[in-house]
Amino acid sequence: MNGEITIFEALGKEKIKMLAANFYMEVEKVEQLRNLYPKDLKPAEERLFWFLLHVFGGPSPYLEKRGHPMLRKRHFQWPIDGNMRNIWLSCMFRAIDSVPMEQETKDALLAYFVNAANHLVNR
Ligand code: HEM
Repeated sequence: MNGEITIFEALGKEKIKMLAANFYMEVEKVEQLRNLYPKDLKPAEERLFWFLLHVFGGPSPYLEKRGHPMLRKRHFQWPIDGNMRNIWLSCMFRAIDSVPMEQETKDALLAYFVNAANHLVNR
């Protein structure tokens, strides 16, 4: 971003909600990734939505509801190698493409998710 506004300010709550919903619609289509997630994806979608509001600079119930994110620790139970990271990221890239936004905001999201997903590779 231009350093003056947060991703939350650029996107707003509704588009961040769309992003989380669209991401899980993509997860549904990829068996290898889908198998890692619980049967009911709705609560997972809600946790991702709260988390994204939190990291993008908006008001969020994430910390009250889930505590410190500790994403690397929480993801250790799933084997995430380079291939699984790429599968996850491709779902997120398609989700990002399905939400209307400025190119600058898209670039900030891509950079954020690539970096975060790299950090979660654990095998
Ligand atoms: C790299 C590949 C990744 C895989 C295979 C993966 C897989 C999973 C799975 C299976 C869950 C459990 C779903 C649930 O019940 O909440 C989960 C939770 C979660 N993931 Fe990922 N994830 C990946 C990357 C990421 C990235 C890059 C982010 C954020 C930038 C992220 C954020 C989260 C959050 C916020 C939760 C819920 C944590 C909680 O409060 O319990 N994940 N992930």
